[in-house]
Amino acid sequence: MNDMKIIGFGHYVPKTIKYNDDFKEIVETSDEWIKSRTGISKRHFADKESTLNLAYKAALMAIEDAKVSPNDIDLVICATITPDSFTPSTASKVLKLLGIEKAMAFDISAACSGFIYAMNVASAILKANKLKKAIVIGCEALSKIVDYTDRATCVLFGDGAGAVVIDCCDNKSCFYCMSKTDEDNILYANAIKSNGIFNGGIIDDYHLKMNGREVFRFAIDAVNDAITKALDIADLTIDDIDLIIPHQANERIIAAVCRHWNLDFNRFYLNISEYGNTSAASIAIALSEAHHKKVIGKGNNIMLVGFGAGLTWASMIIKL
Ligand code: ACO
Repeated sequence: MNDMKIIGFGHYVPKTIKYNDDFKEIVETSDEWIKSRTGISKRHFADKESTLNLAYKAALMAIEDAKVSPNDIDLVICATITPDSFTPSTASKVLKLLGIEKAMAFDISAACSGFIYAMNVASAILKANKLKKAIVIGCEALSKIVDYTDRATCVLFGDGAGAVVIDCCDNKSCFYCMSKTDEDNILYANAIKSNGIFNGGIIDDYHLKMNGREVFRFAIDAVNDAITKALDIADLTIDDIDLIIPHQANERIIAAVCRHWNLDFNRFYLNISEYGNTSAASIAIALSEAHHKKVIGKGNNIMLVGFGAGLTWASMIIKL
């Protein structure tokens, strides 16, 4: 078990909003199809903002909420699959914007499970290195890799960032992070091929590709496994959990999980209607929003559950 506490919450979404009906201008679709299949009504677009800017604004809000000085931060980890540069990392660039003179900083890539993976890594590093405070950020400008000619994917995704400040302490938290190879390529986005020049050219199709039905099936099994494992590790039952904050990919995935566990829909925090699927940012945005709307508070047991490309899936339980 790792010991840490969340002491500050922040989130940020870019100003530009696209409603379902806006997509009728670019692909054959309808508000009714999108809403009934996914629960999404609108999403935000970083058309004039970098991934770094999203990360910075969410992290700034979290630092202000925590009422700590930037130079109290020992570690910054960004979970993202859409950084502005291969290197330096988004986390390294956030340091300067936040006014942090120096700290350990790096990005991790675990797609929609990335925020929980980053929390796990941050918690372990704080403990192993006898450090005190970290900022963990989930940030994505997915609009960079979405194919806006593919109606099956383009309506699903949005941009944004969420962040928390965590403090090493005696409060118990528990993590479960898992991965398996996506052998059937059900969810992927290619990067640049390193040997392209001498071996048949460079891959230039970096768009996100998805077999929606297969991802849907994988997601239900992954969420059920992640909930079971987190409860086992924490030695709790589902009734001990005040709120589950899942990755926001599709309301119908959550409805299937509710049926499996015989849970009311309101045991899950959902904001997919507002933001769409923001990958590594989605759980972080939902967690911060739930905190600032006072849906969650001191003493609550919160479970975070993620699933996504990799294939990855993950969960954690934390007492606020
Ligand atoms: N508007 C209208 N029709 C559409 C659209 C659209 N935007 N997209 C697809 N369709 C059509 C299809 O072409 C198909 O038409 P056809 O029957 O004539 O062939 C029909 O709708 C049904 O398509 P399906 O793919 O079977 O639709 P489904 O009910 O499975 O819903 C969806 C698709 C919403 C993508 C669903 O499968 C899903 O949510 N999957 C999970 C996605 C997910 O969780 N992703 C998370 C991971 S993302 C990450 O990690 C970065």
